[in-house]
Amino acid sequence: MIFLGYPIWNGNCPNIMLTFMENESYDFSGKTVIPFCTHGGSSLGRSESTIKSEIPSATVWGGLAIAGTTAQNDRDTARSQVESFIGRLNLNFTRTSMAKYDFSEFTNVELINADLDGMIGAQLEILYLQAKYCQAMTEANTDTMRELTSENITFTHMSGK
Ligand SMILES: Cc1cc2nc3c(=O)[nH]c(=O)nc-3n(C[C@H](O)[C@H](O)[C@H](O)COP(=O)(O)O)c2cc1C
Repeated sequence: MIFLGYPIWNGNCPNIMLTFMENESYDFSGKTVIPFCTHGGSSLGRSESTIKSEIPSATVWGGLAIAGTTAQNDRDTARSQVESFIGRLNLNFTRTSMAKYDFSEFTNVELINADLDGMIGAQLEILYLQAKYCQAMTEANTDTMRELTSENITFTHMSGK
């Protein structure tokens, strides 16, 4: 998840943002991009559609626009706008992620004291992969274990081997 922030210039994101998005060393595929901006009245302007067309491989979510004068002079209001925006994101994020992660498929793994509802997607994903790894260990399923670890990782068994 990438938060992309900028001021609105001429109804759009500034050209330097295009330079960033067009940089071929960045791979946006599979990423969720969340735009946010300050502005003088145009709100997000054309910036969301610009971002979508610049990085079509990313999923671009609806962004947050805060008036530049609010950001400059009224930090409490700006903060509450950011907080309510983040709150809405977290809800969506957790809901979609939960549907993707079915821990009941790991019959040999028991989750103890895990607050799944309080986790964001990235935390759930790590826990899910860890559970999958544990299940694979109990089944001596080295194919799955190999799939879950990168070539240059050395896994040390709890026995020390
Ligand atoms: C070159 C330039 C162009 C701008 N064009 C717009 C615009 O088209 N629409 C708008 O709402 N604000 C426009 N603004 C106002 C900025 O969006 C606003 O001042 C800024 O978001 C506030 O952040 P800052 O404190 O970092 O300047 C423009 C500002 C500059 C410097």
